[in-house]
Amino acid sequence: CNYLREKDRKTICEVLCNGLARQEYRGYDSAGIGIDGDKPGEVYYFKEVGKVAGLRKKIADSTMDTSKTFLSQVSIAHTRWATHGPPSTVNCHPLRSDPNSEFIVVHNGIVTNSVALRTVLQKRGYAFESETDTEAVAILSKYVYDTQPAMKKSFTELVKTVLRELEGSFAFVFKSSHFPNEIVTARRGSPLLIGVKTEKKLKVDFVDVEISGPKDTTETLSPASSTAGGLLAPPTASHSIARSQSRAFMSEDGMPQPIEFFVASDAAAIIEHTKRVLYLEDDDIAHISEGELHIHRFRRAEEGNITPSQAAATRSIETLEIELAEIMKGKFDHFMQKEIYEQPESVVNTMRGRVNFDTNAITLGGLRAYLPIIRRGRRIVFSACGTSYHSCLATRAIFEELTEIPASIELASDFLDRKTPIFRDDVCVFVSQSGETADTILAMRYCLERGALCVGVVNTVGSTISRETHCGIHINAGPEIGVASTKAYTSQYIALLMMALQLSEDRISLTPRRNQIIQGLLALPAQIKKVLDLDKSLQELANTSLSNQRSLLIMGRGYQHATCLEGALKIKEISYLHSEGILAGELKHGPLALIDENMPVIIVMTRDSLFAKVESAFAQITARKAAPVVICNDDDDSKFLKHVKTIRVPKTIDCLQGLLNIIPLQLLSYHLAVKNGFDVDFPRNLAKSVTTE
Ligand code: G6P
Repeated sequence: CNYLREKDRKTICEVLCNGLARQEYRGYDSAGIGIDGDKPGEVYYFKEVGKVAGLRKKIADSTMDTSKTFLSQVSIAHTRWATHGPPSTVNCHPLRSDPNSEFIVVHNGIVTNSVALRTVLQKRGYAFESETDTEAVAILSKYVYDTQPAMKKSFTELVKTVLRELEGSFAFVFKSSHFPNEIVTARRGSPLLIGVKTEKKLKVDFVDVEISGPKDTTETLSPASSTAGGLLAPPTASHSIARSQSRAFMSEDGMPQPIEFFVASDAAAIIEHTKRVLYLEDDDIAHISEGELHIHRFRRAEEGNITPSQAAATRSIETLEIELAEIMKGKFDHFMQKEIYEQPESVVNTMRGRVNFDTNAITLGGLRAYLPIIRRGRRIVFSACGTSYHSCLATRAIFEELTEIPASIELASDFLDRKTPIFRDDVCVFVSQSGETADTILAMRYCLERGALCVGVVNTVGSTISRETHCGIHINAGPEIGVASTKAYTSQYIALLMMALQLSEDRISLTPRRNQIIQGLLALPAQIKKVLDLDKSLQELANTSLSNQRSLLIMGRGYQHATCLEGALKIKEISYLHSEGILAGELKHGPLALIDENMPVIIVMTRDSLFAKVESAFAQITARKAAPVVICNDDDDSKFLKHVKTIRVPKTIDCLQGLLNIIPLQLLSYHLAVKNGFDVDFPRNLAKSVTTE
C-alpha cells in the first residue's frame, strides 16, 4: 500500500505479480489479486489456476484502465496451495465477504475450525461462494461489522475480534471497503514481514508494540453458542496500553513523508523495492493507515507460552542483506540447477569466518555462550523434516564420535505424534532450510515449553525458528528457490559437522581426527567442482539406462545411508520416479526380493571402513543378475569395477564423503526430470516451505 506517493494501476499490478512470481518457489497451484476499482470501495479481482504468468495475461487482456492513478491505495495478492477445496478460480484468494467486497482476505495457513464457523454463519444467512476455510474469515469479519456497532470504528479491533474466534495457523492480510486505504495484517504460525520504503531516512528504526487487549471475550462463535444469541461479545473496557505507539515513519527531520508498505510472507517478494523489513511475531497484528504502522498484540502475555521475541516491546526494522541477483536464475535453466552448481561457493559461505584452516579451529559465534550447557546436556535430539532430516542422519555418526553425547534424530511430525519425553537437560536441535516448516516449529515449541535448550540450524535469517530458538547457526547457503533442496543440504551437513567439531575442541585425544576433518573441509570446494564436471555423463545416464524405468533402488551403508535416502528423495520429488534408499545392511531382510535383471540399482561404494560389507551387498545383487551403477572413488582400480557403470568422485575423509556423493544424485534427478519435461523447480503437489501440519 502507498501513502502520498502516486501509483498507477499498471505499476501496482506489476508490483503484485512480480512479488507473487518471486514466491513461486514456495509452491502453489493458483494465484489471484484484488486491486482498487474505479468507484470507492470497489475491488477488481483477477484469479487464475496455474502459474503467475497466466494471471499476468488475464490482467493484460482485461479492459481495466491501467493508467488510473492513486495517491493512496491498498491492493492484495496471493498464491494458493490448496488445502480446503481444489485449485480453481472460485477458491483462489483474495476471498470476499460478499459481492460488495466489504471485507477481503488473503490467507496462508489453515483455519481448523472453519467448518464450524461456516455452519454458524450460514445459519445466520451469510452465503458462501467457495469451499475454502479462508472465506469463513472474510464473512466472519462482515458479521462482526454488521452486529457490533463498536467495531465500525476500528479496523484493528474488528480483526482482533475475528482472530480470537480462529483456531489453526495463519498469516492474513485484510482489506475493507469500510476502511479505505487501511490494511490489517496478522500472524500465528505462518511467516509475515512488512517492508518499508521511504525516500528519506527514518527517524526511528523500530515500532512500539501495543501490549493491550480485552480481558475477556466470554462468548465465542461456535455451533454451541450460536443458539445462545449474543455471540462474539464486544471486548470489555479494560484496555491497558503499555506504552504509547510511535509514529514510526517520520523522516529524520521530523516530517511525515510519502511511504510505501509491502506485506509479504517472504522477503524475496519485496526485496526489489526495499531492504528495510520488520518481521512480525506470532500473535502480532499490524495496522497500516495514512503512512503509519502500528503493531498490537492480539493475545496477552498471561495467556501463556509467549517467547521472549514475541513479548518484546518493540519490533525493529532490519536491513536485509540478500541481493535480488541472488534469487534470480542467471545463466541457468532452473533454480535447482543453479543451486546445485552454487555448491562450491555455498559451502565456503557456510564455513566463512568460522573455520580457521591454519589453526584448525572452529568458532561458531551463535553457539559460543551455550557450549558449556550443550556439553553438559544429557543427550542431543535433532528434529527436522525432508532433506533437513537427512542432513541430521548424515552427521549423526560423526557427532556421536566427536562429542560422545548420545544423539537421536527425529522426523518432526513423528516426534510430536509420539509426544516424546523431553527434559530440561536435553539439547534440542532444529534443522530447517526455511525456518518455517510447521512440524519443525511445533516440535521446537514443544521442547521450549519443556525447558530444553533449543538450537536452530537454519538458512533463512529472521525466520521463526531462527528467532525463537535460544541460539543457533545460520548455514548461510544463500536463498534456495528450487523446491528440491540441494545446496541447503550440503550446508546443513557442514554446519552440523562444525557444531560437532566445536563441541569436541576440549577433547585433546581427538585433535588428530579433528584436524584431519578440518583439512578435508578445506579441499572440499575444489572437489565439489570436480564432481560437477560429471554433469554430462550423468545426463547421459538419465537419458539412457535410467530412462523410462519404473523404479530405482539406491543402496549403501554407514555414512552413505543418508546419501541413499536423500538421493532417492531427490529423484522421487522432481522426476516422479519411485525411488527407495536402502541401507545395504538391510538388503537381506527384504529388499533383495526386488532384485532381478530388470531392477535398476545405484550402489554407493566409496572407500571407508565399511567398504568390504558394501562389496558383499554388491556381490549379492550381481549374483541375482542386477547391473548396478556404482558410485566409487576416482582412484579405485578394483577389478570388479571394470565390468559395471561407474560414477567416480574424489576421495575425502569418511565423514565428508557424503557431501561429494550426493551431488551426482542431485544432478541425476535433475536430468531425469528435465528429460521427462517435468517442472523441475515446482514439482507437482509439493511446496518449498510446508507451513501447515
Ligand atoms: C519441504 C521441501 C523440502 C524440505 C522440507 C523441510 O518438504 O519441499 O525440500 O527438505 O520441506 O523444509 P525445511 O525448510 O524445514 O528444511
